[in-house]
Amino acid sequence: MKVFLCPNREKLAALTAALLAAQIRTKPESVLGLATGRTMEAVYARLVLAHTTQQLDFSRCTTFNLDEYAGLAPTDPRSYHTYMHQHLFQHVNLTAEQTHLPNGMAEDLSAEGVRYDALIQQAGGIDLQLLGLGENGHIGFNEPLASLSSRSRPVVLAPETRQQNAGLFDGNPDSVPPRALTMGTGTILESRRIILTVSGTSKARILQAVLEGPVTAQKSASALHFHNNCLVLADQEAASCL
Ligand code: GLP
Repeated sequence: MKVFLCPNREKLAALTAALLAAQIRTKPESVLGLATGRTMEAVYARLVLAHTTQQLDFSRCTTFNLDEYAGLAPTDPRSYHTYMHQHLFQHVNLTAEQTHLPNGMAEDLSAEGVRYDALIQQAGGIDLQLLGLGENGHIGFNEPLASLSSRSRPVVLAPETRQQNAGLFDGNPDSVPPRALTMGTGTILESRRIILTVSGTSKARILQAVLEGPVTAQKSASALHFHNNCLVLADQEAASCL
């Protein structure tokens, strides 16, 4: 695992976007793993800019998102489908056929997880997976004590995750869906390259625990130590406890 520190949030977003853009330029048919959350908003804004001003071409890419809330329709304004549409998909040359998120409305959520992993395999596996870090150390929605070899599946969200993500739900953690579908930690680790982008003082302690502490199912991000091509990008605030 390599760690690179950026002076501020803007440079962090710029570097993350530049690495993703370089991946697309080097391999136009890249399979990209995408993440949601506030940290990624500035990353997607820069990719949109690169598309409009530097002809960054997504036309041969395929994308797979990490997760989606259970029970939210793709058209729900609080869904990750909507987030991705608003922040990236509608602004670049990606069609609906090229982009994938787990279907939170699937009747059988376990079968949906199996289907999602199979789709990733059929696409040839993920070339570059973007990740954010949850304040409890999760990647995707792989909450504390989930198996580090888990596959894509339905999960119960931890109370702190519902608290952290309450912003889109009128600030009320009880309104955040209790369950979600997530790519498994094992699935994530199969990506050929991984970039974990971490920003802000609220992530400083957990980033320190993930980077300097033991590999533990208590923090699924710690499993990234097992990956042979994982880059951690952090701004000064997030790196303040290292
Ligand atoms: C959610 C997502 C994670 C993401 C995390 C970080 O929990 N499921 O995949 O990494 O948010 O979010 P933020 O960037 O808003 O701190």
